[in-house]
Amino acid sequence: KPAPKVRAKAKAKPEFKKKEPVAAGNFKVCVCGGAGGIGQPLSLLMAMDPNVKELCIFDLSVAMVPPTGVAADLGHLERKNTVKGYSMDIGQKPVDHLEECLTGCHLVLVPAGMPRKPGQSRDDLFKINADIAKGIVEACAKFCPGAILGMVVNPVNSIVPAMAELYKKKGLDPLKIIGISTLDVVRANKFVGAETGRNPNFINVPVIGGHAGKTILPLFSQDKAGASIDKEKIADLDVKVQDAGTEVVNAKNGKGSATLSMAYAGARLGKSVLAGLQGKRRTECAYVASTVTDLPYFASKVVFGETGIVKVLPVGEMNEYETKRFEEVKEQLKGEIQTGLDYAEVNS
Ligand code: LMR
Repeated sequence: KPAPKVRAKAKAKPEFKKKEPVAAGNFKVCVCGGAGGIGQPLSLLMAMDPNVKELCIFDLSVAMVPPTGVAADLGHLERKNTVKGYSMDIGQKPVDHLEECLTGCHLVLVPAGMPRKPGQSRDDLFKINADIAKGIVEACAKFCPGAILGMVVNPVNSIVPAMAELYKKKGLDPLKIIGISTLDVVRANKFVGAETGRNPNFINVPVIGGHAGKTILPLFSQDKAGASIDKEKIADLDVKVQDAGTEVVNAKNGKGSATLSMAYAGARLGKSVLAGLQGKRRTECAYVASTVTDLPYFASKVVFGETGIVKVLPVGEMNEYETKRFEEVKEQLKGEIQTGLDYAEVNS
């Protein structure tokens, strides 16, 4: 009787090996806004992902650096991939210029639009950034409708509903549009690490709600290190996560918002998307079309799999403080979602 056991083992190994090379390393990724402050480091991190076979850098020809220059630069890394740059002049439409760039893309990361200046809220950027996002999203709808779009365009709370509704109106899947709120998780993990003396790498605080001010709700109680923090310190830590973006905006003193940590967070999300498409499930928080609350868009844990988001997970257990904050989150988020829905109504 031991014989079949040995045979079963011998059979299982090659099957496992056979899967790896077929799926890995075959992805086409585009970074729209890839020559900007977030776009350049984000492109660097994605170029280093062994899953990426072709990386496209798209930006305006008047960007910080010409996108073809960023591509030439990244093309010298010791990686088995190709990097190409694409540009467009101000006033031109992405849909008229991005056919080659977007066709065949599995993932499009969009760190585009204007950043905040000190004193501005993310909402102040809506009109200008929504129009920029719309141009890119319409080009994706035409040339890579199956791709996952990771949006790093503020105000994420309104831009994602606006773009997802545009996708719906075109008969496309609104869950392909993902608001990247990963930086809130990264920050919460970092701050809990600093408070508890634990390694942030092993901390995972889910951050739910949205990506602006009070809509950012870190669920410290759902992480072991977070749950060990004194109750009296939680409100301050919560506000510290909510205000972290503003802290960077103020420290940069009119010269932009978070770029490096945002690129790090965007790449973390992007790599999880690619791992999922490869059949390796990954769970991350993201702001997406959702039915886990009574709001149509919400950030919670989602599972990335073979088709993109395969599950939007419920918010899970919350303590008294978090339950109270949850109501506050929904109150503010409701209006910000409506801004996006109104835009889609008028602009489709
Ligand atoms: C952030 O959280 O750092 C970004 O949303 C940029 C900003 O304006 O705060």
